[in-house]
Amino acid sequence: MPEIVRKPPLLATPLHTLIVGSRVLVYEEVTSTNDRALQLRGHGIVVVADRQTAGRGRHGRSWASAPGLGLWFSIGFDGPCEGLAFAAPLSVRDVLNTYGYAAVKWPNDVLLNGKKVCGILLESRRNRTALGIGINVHHQAADFPEELHAKATSIELATGHCVDRGTLLRDVLTSLDARVVSLRDGRLDAIHAEWSDACGAVGRRVRYRDRVGTVRALDRDGALLVETDRGIERVLLGEIVELNGA
Ligand code: BTN
Repeated sequence: MPEIVRKPPLLATPLHTLIVGSRVLVYEEVTSTNDRALQLRGHGIVVVADRQTAGRGRHGRSWASAPGLGLWFSIGFDGPCEGLAFAAPLSVRDVLNTYGYAAVKWPNDVLLNGKKVCGILLESRRNRTALGIGINVHHQAADFPEELHAKATSIELATGHCVDRGTLLRDVLTSLDARVVSLRDGRLDAIHAEWSDACGAVGRRVRYRDRVGTVRALDRDGALLVETDRGIERVLLGEIVELNGA
């Protein structure tokens, strides 16, 4: 099927950002907005799609991206852009706090009133980075498979707010831009500290691979530093981890 680039009704007026949103392309349908962001050129280019036919999540999972229900978008950057994995969940959390109680869950999920409302997927290829963000906006309980009912939510389901997706996109891009500019200006340490604090992981018991331990810190690359009976071990961003209460 040919790709149709629509005139963007989603963002009716220009964004006032420095890096994020240098161009905004709105599609009816793509395989994955991350694919397009990796293929296209442009630092800060945004790709939004109403529907993804092969939306993907972390750990090789698929990401359900039905039309009309969510906000599925990616931002393409030149180069590796250290710190995006910290900046993105903080920015989404700040915006979602307008609607309910939003929190960052390690490594970069965002919860709304305790359930996952946003997933973030960072991918790199040939000196290009795609920061993919999926936010569940209008889903009702029946839109999620049974096994996700206890874990997943949408803004509307969690808070009753029927949020305009264009407004949400604008707010997230604006918030993210401020942090991306901070990263460009060398403030990685501050953003890392904010993210580390927001995750609330330090002091929690954690289960990973065949081990258990207590999180003592979050490393500069996002890994958990876990104290076990074998000493301090690093648990990487890509690993499946079960964090328990403090
Ligand atoms: C996760 O929690 O597993 C990450 C989900 C990331 C989903 C978003 S939707 C926009 C972008 N395009 C994709 O194919 N994935 C990300």
